[in-house]
This record gives sequence, structure tokens and C-alpha cells, in this order.
Amino acid sequence: MGRLIASLWKGVTYRGREGHYAFILHRAAGLGVLAFLILHVFDIFLVTFGEEVFNEFLQLYTHPIARIAEVGLIFGVVYHAFNGLRIIIIDFWPKTTVYERQMWRMVMLITLILTAIAGYFTLAPIFE
Ligand code: HEM
Ligand code: HEM
Repeated sequence: MGRLIASLWKGVTYRGREGHYAFILHRAAGLGVLAFLILHVFDIFLVTFGEEVFNEFLQLYTHPIARIAEVGLIFGVVYHAFNGLRIIIIDFWPKTTVYERQMWRMVMLITLILTAIAGYFTLAPIFE
């Protein structure tokens, strides 16, 4: 247990700064979206049991906790997509590596703006 915590701690503190956090977030977002996708294939599959079962399950997604999780999904999808493009740019044009930090800050800015806009509409029904 101690070793697990020590290695997790080392994973978070190993280098720090933009590149390292970009990588951690990219992996967490990729796995998070994958987890949602598995749940999502299950929820769409429920339609085979008829309209009522399907609609009843989807009701779960209107719960405030589900809506907050959806904002996390939006963040994960947008971050992974734009940071993925940043990685692709650096991989194809290695000279752009000197701008990797600036590009990551740009990715974060785009992600936060789009998450705020979509998040507003996702969370608004909670307060109605
Ligand atoms: C716009 C669409 C996407 C783009 C541009 C993209 C881009 C990338 C790139 C470039 C990598 C390699 C990262 C590296 O070299 O360190 C990657 C890794 C990964 N992606 Fe995506 N991706 C996309 C969509 C998705 C989706 C929809 C999922 C999940 C269902 C996903 C899950 C993952 C996972 C789990 C990894 C491995 C992360 C790691 O090794 O740390 N990606 N993605
Ligand atoms: C919360 C936002 C989302 C909603 C409301 C939504 C809604 C739906 C609906 C209604 C279908 C059925 C379409 C049809 O067959 O007529 C579907 C299928 C699908 N969606 Fe989504 N979706 C969402 C997010 C996502 C995300 C983020 C991904 C990718 C990671 C995704 C991947 C898929 C896939 C692969 C299918 C086909 C599944 C199957 O046929 O079993 N969806 N979605």
C-alpha cells in the first residue's frame, strides 16, 4: 500500500509543469471517455427491451449528480480532442515542440471556454 501511494505520488510529481500535466490529463480524459462509452453502448442496447425500459433508464441522466458527471465528460472529450491535435502537430512537425507549453495553454483555454458554455446548458435544468 505504501509503495502504491509512493509510486502514484511520484507519477504526479515526477516532472511537473505543462507537459507532464498535459499527459496525465490526456490519459485520465481518454480513460474517462472510454468508461462513458462502455456505459453508453449499454444504455443504447436497452432499447431492445422496448421504449419504456429505455426511457426509464435515461431518466437517471437527468439527476443532478449525472449532470455534473456530464460536465466532466464534456471537459474530457474537448480536452482530449484538442490536446490530441496538439500532440499530432508536435509529432508531425517536431520544430513546433518549442511552443508546446503555449499550445497547451491554448488547449486549456479552448477547453475551459467550451466546457463553460456547454456546462451552463447542462447544469441549468437543475436550477429550474
Ligand atoms: C478527436 C478525437 C481524438 C483525438 C484527436 C485523439 C488523440 C489521441 C492521441 C494523439 C493519443 C496519443 C497520446 C500520446 O501520444 O501520448 C491518444 C491516446 C489515447 N486516446 Fe485518444 N483521441 C481522440 C479520441 C479518443 C476517444 C473517443 C477515446 C475513448 C473512447 C480516446 C481514448 C484514448 C486513450 C485511452 C489513449 C491512451 C492515453 C495514454 O496512453 O495515456 N481517444 N488520443
Ligand atoms: C451525453 C451525450 C450523448 C448523447 C445524448 C448520446 C446519444 C446517443 C443516441 C440517442 C444514440 C443512438 C443513436 C441511434 O442508434 O439512433 C447514440 C449512439 C452512440 N453513441 Fe452517443 N450520445 C452521447 C455521447 C456520446 C459520446 C461522448 C460518444 C463517444 C465516446 C458516443 C458514442 C456513441 C456510439 C459509439 C453509439 C452507437 C452505439 C451502439 O449502436 O450500440 N456518444 N448516442
